[in-house]
Amino acid sequence: MRSITSFVCQECGYESVQWLGKCPECGNWNSLKEVQSSKFQPKTTSAEKVIVDLRPKTLGEIQYEEKNRLTTGFFEVDNVFGGGMVPGSVTLLAGDPGIGKSTLLLQIALNVARGSTNSAGPASRSGPVLYISGEESEEQIKLRASRITKNLQNNNFLLLSLNNADAIIEVIQKVKPILVVIDSIQTMESENIDGLSGSLGQVRYSASLFIRLAKALGIPIILVGHVTKEGMVAGPMLLSHMVDVVLFLEGDKTSPTRLLRGLKNRFGPVDEVGVFVMEEKGLREVKNAEQFFASKQQAASVGSALVVTLEGSRAFLVEVQALVVFSKLPMPRRVASGIDGKRLELLLAVLQKHCRLPLQTMDVFVNAAGGIKLSDTACDLGICLAVFSSLKNIPLEKIVAISEVGLLGELRSVGFLQKRIKEAQKLGFQKILSPKSHQTLWEVIQSAGKSYG
Ligand code: TYD
Ligand code: MG
Repeated sequence: MRSITSFVCQECGYESVQWLGKCPECGNWNSLKEVQSSKFQPKTTSAEKVIVDLRPKTLGEIQYEEKNRLTTGFFEVDNVFGGGMVPGSVTLLAGDPGIGKSTLLLQIALNVARGSTNSAGPASRSGPVLYISGEESEEQIKLRASRITKNLQNNNFLLLSLNNADAIIEVIQKVKPILVVIDSIQTMESENIDGLSGSLGQVRYSASLFIRLAKALGIPIILVGHVTKEGMVAGPMLLSHMVDVVLFLEGDKTSPTRLLRGLKNRFGPVDEVGVFVMEEKGLREVKNAEQFFASKQQAASVGSALVVTLEGSRAFLVEVQALVVFSKLPMPRRVASGIDGKRLELLLAVLQKHCRLPLQTMDVFVNAAGGIKLSDTACDLGICLAVFSSLKNIPLEKIVAISEVGLLGELRSVGFLQKRIKEAQKLGFQKILSPKSHQTLWEVIQSAGKSYG
């Protein structure tokens, strides 16, 4: 084995033979670190002895069957995958520590081992499922499994606590599972490469081993990736470039709501989301997620308005709550949760200038209910209305607001207006405020004030 020195960017994994101050790939300064990597010839495993067919094929000759996808047993997860997991695909599940990645994957592994289906998803197959943990002991995982299910008698669910990537490859080849979970890629290490587990070289090498194996054996493999302080998966761009699917499990620790978001998908739609709630017995998928963020009691409360936000292909109805009170501070407070703080400042300025609301002396608190983050500008009008409603003590009854608000106080059109309106109507809301019904924020505020004031 020959040891050579190279310089690897700790942010994106770019490799160079010489030291550079700035990474040409991701543009970060001082991110290249010297790495002693061994130029190795890995033992050829049978996974790598794939017979390569060099004959180009016509489209008709290529076999592809959608029904080969494997269901996770959760409609919300299958939907994010684009209809279940594709054989031979490698998925990276990223998220903050403690958000529920291991719980979700343990549930999926148990579902697949049990051969459970989701009514709308692809047919299930049965066979062994291998759950490999480099983080927790087998006892710890059994304890978690006993929280999730009462039925622990399942010969198809196989557990192994191990972090030696080379040994894991051999186990997978022997067991031939129909699904493999590796929790987490940062704990994996190989003797073929220098550096501690979690280092860029180790992560990249073990990931490439698993990817090659997945392709060769046609097994879907899910890798867990922790997010570092900077909000990135270690070796961030590097890992996401390597895998087929990147999913992100997100949520606020103070709320039980969890969103599973597709960030990259070679086999389906991106930006699709699944909605879950963390409960005593693991994650529960939310049925009718489109209505989950809007409370039934919304009708007639002061400071509450309904908006429709688009996530992937779905429109979610969300309740926005505002509280506006007199401020004792020279610089009144603006507190936003689930909404961008800068956007809130801008909307308050528009309300102040174009609707003459005295917000400069008021503390304003705005919150998106249910732990969802609103980044869709179609929520602007609803945020403005919630603030107006709280300021003037006027309840807004049974209305849904769908519009962007411009700096001139004008209502601006938003994408997929019909789809959003349809979702609101499905829930029985007939009064919908949009650029179709009004031209300016001032008009909307006036009519809201008149009908209730
Ligand atoms: P975990 O899956 O260990 O997170 P990650 O793998 O992303 O680090 O989830 C840990 C949290 O989930 C922990 O705070 C406890 C909570 N939890 C429940 O609320 N209910 C459950 O049934 C389980 C298994 C965990
Ligand atoms: Mg975990």
